[in-house]
Amino acid sequence: MTSTLNITINGAPHEIALDDPRATLLDVLRERLGLTGTKKGCDRGQCGACTVLIDGRRMNACLALALSHDWAEVTTIEGLAEGDTLHPVQQAFIAHDGFQCGYCTPGQIMSAVGLIAEGEAGLDPERVREGMSGNICRCAAYAGITDAVLEATRASGTRTE
Ligand code: FES
Ligand code: FES
Repeated sequence: MTSTLNITINGAPHEIALDDPRATLLDVLRERLGLTGTKKGCDRGQCGACTVLIDGRRMNACLALALSHDWAEVTTIEGLAEGDTLHPVQQAFIAHDGFQCGYCTPGQIMSAVGLIAEGEAGLDPERVREGMSGNICRCAAYAGITDAVLEATRASGTRTE
């Protein structure tokens, strides 16, 4: 039986027919909408490469049943920049060499955007590392990632205490 998913991705509404009710949001993004910036690393909730924002909260898209998020608003890495202007978190990752091969980077950046919005880690490097611990980097670019998140937090003016 075909089900219909109504979902807004990066501000654009979509109505998507799904033959498989078990389709994950990750597969819908990548295979139905061509939004391949969201990466499939482990496909089992262990690496964070697939992190997106669902209604403003960071989640692993590989663990999210698409139909469970009917009418949700999703932001992916493709939705962060405004025209030619990168999002401040993207700029901070470049400034601080927060990546090497780049495979984990979209997930890292989406997780950082969510973490900064949560306002829980502030400017404490240890709490930033803990807050980003769901995002694995096989290139071990962790020092640059932490520095980038700290700089982006400073730039955001988010509560830091
Ligand atoms: Fe989703 Fe690894 S692909 S957590
Ligand atoms: Fe290569 Fe993180 S930059 S996995």
